Amino acid sequence: MSAVRNPKQQSEMPRVVGQPIARVDGPLKVRGQARFAAEVDLPGLAYAALAYSSIAKGRIVSIDTSAARQAAGVMFVMTHENAPKLNPPPIFTEGGAAVSRLPIMQGADVHWNGQPIAIVVAESQEQAEHAASLIQARFDTEPAVLSLDKSRARAKAHEHILGEPPKIEIGDAESALASAEVRVDRVYRTPRQNHNAIELHAVTVHWEEGTLVVHDSTQMINMSALALQRIFDLPPDKVRVKSPFIGGGFGGKGLWSYQVLAAAVAREVQRPVRLVLSREGVFRSIGGRTLTEQRVALGARKDGALAALIHTGLTGMTSHSYCPEQFTFPARHLYQADRFKIAQEYVALHMVPNTFMRAPGESVGTFALESAIDELAVALQLDPIELRRRLEPKVDPTSRHPFSQRGLIEAYRRGAEKFGWHDRNLEPRSRREGDWLIGHGVATATYPYYRQPGGAARIRLNAEGHAIVQMASHEMGMGTATVQAQFAADLLAVPLEEVKFEYGDSTQPAGTMAGGSSQTASIIGAVVAASEALFAELLRLAGPQSPLAGLEPGEVMTRDRGLCARRDPGRFESYRAILKRAGRQEVSAEASSAEPVEAQKYSMHSTGAQFCEVRVNAITGEIRVSRFLGSFDVGRIVNPKTAASQLRGGIVMGIGLALMEETLFDERTGRIMNASLAEYHVPVHMDVPAIDVIWNDIPDPQSPHGVRGIGEIGITGVGAAIANAVYNAAGVRVRELPITLDKT
Ligand code: MOS
Repeated sequence: MSAVRNPKQQSEMPRVVGQPIARVDGPLKVRGQARFAAEVDLPGLAYAALAYSSIAKGRIVSIDTSAARQAAGVMFVMTHENAPKLNPPPIFTEGGAAVSRLPIMQGADVHWNGQPIAIVVAESQEQAEHAASLIQARFDTEPAVLSLDKSRARAKAHEHILGEPPKIEIGDAESALASAEVRVDRVYRTPRQNHNAIELHAVTVHWEEGTLVVHDSTQMINMSALALQRIFDLPPDKVRVKSPFIGGGFGGKGLWSYQVLAAAVAREVQRPVRLVLSREGVFRSIGGRTLTEQRVALGARKDGALAALIHTGLTGMTSHSYCPEQFTFPARHLYQADRFKIAQEYVALHMVPNTFMRAPGESVGTFALESAIDELAVALQLDPIELRRRLEPKVDPTSRHPFSQRGLIEAYRRGAEKFGWHDRNLEPRSRREGDWLIGHGVATATYPYYRQPGGAARIRLNAEGHAIVQMASHEMGMGTATVQAQFAADLLAVPLEEVKFEYGDSTQPAGTMAGGSSQTASIIGAVVAASEALFAELLRLAGPQSPLAGLEPGEVMTRDRGLCARRDPGRFESYRAILKRAGRQEVSAEASSAEPVEAQKYSMHSTGAQFCEVRVNAITGEIRVSRFLGSFDVGRIVNPKTAASQLRGGIVMGIGLALMEETLFDERTGRIMNASLAEYHVPVHMDVPAIDVIWNDIPDPQSPHGVRGIGEIGITGVGAAIANAVYNAAGVRVRELPITLDKT
C-alpha cells in the first residue's frame, strides 16, 4: 500500500525515483566538512599504534615494552600480559560484526603473521608509531599450514556455504563428461587480494560515563555494536557506534581487533583514543579475498547443449573465521545442463582471516566459469553469446525455482549492439595495429539478490510537512542517503528538498549491514513498513472532520504532501492540515520490515553482460583494456547517476582483479611481502578506459519496489571478459589471475 506502487498516482510532484540526482552528501565531502572516523575531534585526544607478530604460528615467549614505555609522549602500552579481560568476539554467523572468533590480546598464542601483539597510546600519532617500532617480541614458533597447494590433503567440506549446500550433485556428471562429444576440463587459479579502500581502517573512541562511543568506519553498525557489547560485557544502551561516512568498504569494514584494542586502551588511559591503521597495518591485520583453485569441466553436444557442468575446487580459510569465498555460486544458476556436480572445500591456513571482498565468490567464480564457457565456444566454433543463448535456462537449473525476473539475454542483446560486437575480431591473433594485437571478449556477470531481515525505520513528519527518515544504515560513498531520500520523497509525495534520510548511528532504529548488495532493498522494505504505520497514525489523527474520515489505511495513497482516497483522489488532506487540526507539531511512526521471504520461493539474481576490448603488445606482452561496456539486468534503477558509478566502480575493481591485484604471501613464513600500494597494484587512471554502463531497467516483481542490489555485480564477469579478450587478441589462454605480461 503506497503511492509508488500505484501507476495511476495523481500528483503534481515530479517523481524523483529514476532521476539522476546528485549525491546529497557531495557538497559536504568536497568542502571537507564530512567528518570521517579518523577526523572526529575530541578534547584530550590520544593516538594509538599497533605492533604485529612476525611469525605465523606459535607463542610469544617474551615481549619487551620497556623502550616503548620510555619513549617520548607514550602514556600506555598494552600487550596480552596487561590487557583487561575481553570476551571472544561474535562473528557474523552469530549476529556480530567480528571477522574472527579469536579472543583479542588474551594470550600468548599467535595465529598469523601480522596479528596485533601490542598497542601503544601516545600524545601524537608519530610518537605512538615510533614507540610501537621499539617493541621487541621473542617467539616460539610452531609448524604452520601456509600452502594451499601442499595442504590439499587437509581439505574439509563446509557444513554449508552461507546457507546453501556445499555440494550439489544432479545425475552422474563425471560419466556424462567422459562420454561427451566436446569437452573442456580446466583448472583456474585466483590469488589473494587485499582490501585497499582509500580510507584506512580507523576508529576514534571515547568512554562517556560508562558508555563506549565508537566513531568507526563500518558497514555493520548494529552488528558492531552488538559485538562490542558482548566483548566488553556492556548492556545495549552502553555502546554507541557512529559511522556517518565511510571512505570505501567493499566488505572489509567490519569489526577487527583494532576497534576493540582502541576501546580497551581508551578505558585504561581515560582519554579519547584514535587508532588509524597504516596501509601496512591494513595488509597485516585486515583480511581480504582468499585464494582459489577451481576446476570447471563442461561436457557438450555439438550444438552446445551441456550434458555435464562441473565446478569444484578449494579455497584457503582460517579455523576461526567464516568466509567461504563461494566461487561455486554462479554455476548453480546460470546455465541449463543435464547433470551437475558442484562442490567446494577449504583448507584452514595460518593467515590473516580472509573476509568478504566485493562479490566474494562470484567475482572469482565467474572468472573460472566464464573462461570455460568461452573455451567451449572456441571448441564448438560458436559465437560465445550464441552459446549462452542456447544454454539459457527456463527455471533455475539447480534449485528448479522460477526466476523472479531475468533479462540476461536482453542484456547481451543491448550490450552487443552498443559495443558493436558484430565487428569483433573473429580469429584469435588476427587483428593488429602496429605492435598492438586487438581482441574482444564477453562474459556473464551475476550476483544474487539479498534482503536482510531485522531492519527498522522511523519516519517523522513535521508541521511543515517535511519528512525525516531514520535508520542506522551506511553510506560508503555509493549514494545511500541520496537514493533513500528519493525513494521516500515519492513514497510520501513530498518534494526531494523536504526529505532527509538520517543514518549512520546505532541510536537510530536498527539497520542491516551494507553487504551482499542488500542494503537498498532492505532499507526500502523497512521504510515501506514504517510508512504504513505512519499512514494509519495520520488517519487516526485526521478524525471525523477530515475528508479522509472513515477511510482505512489500505484505502489511501499519497499525493501532493498528503493523503487521498485511492478510489477518489479528490478526497484529499495534506499532512500539514491533518497535524494542524490535531494540534500536533509532529507525527512519527516506526516499523520493522516484513520477513524477506521472496528469495525462498524464487531464484533471484541480477545478471549482466561484460564486453571488453584489449590491446596486447606483440613485443612486450603488455595488456591495456582499451574499451569496456557493462550491460546489466539489475531490477529498477532508483538513481541512474549513483547506479552508473556503482557499476562502473565494480568494473574498475574488476580490471584490478584481472590484471594487477595480488597479495604476495610468502609460504615459508606466512608474511605478506607487498604490504603497500607501491607494491600491491590497483588500477589507476591510466589503466582504465572510458567505461560504458547500460541497464535494462526492468523492475523485479518480487522485490520491494522492483529493486535489486547493484554494489557487487559490476566486478563479476570482468576477469573472464578480459581473459577472453586477451585470448582473442593474442591467442594465449591465461587461467591464472592476475593476467600479467609474462603470461601472455
Ligand atoms: Mo560486500 S563484499 O558484501 O561489502
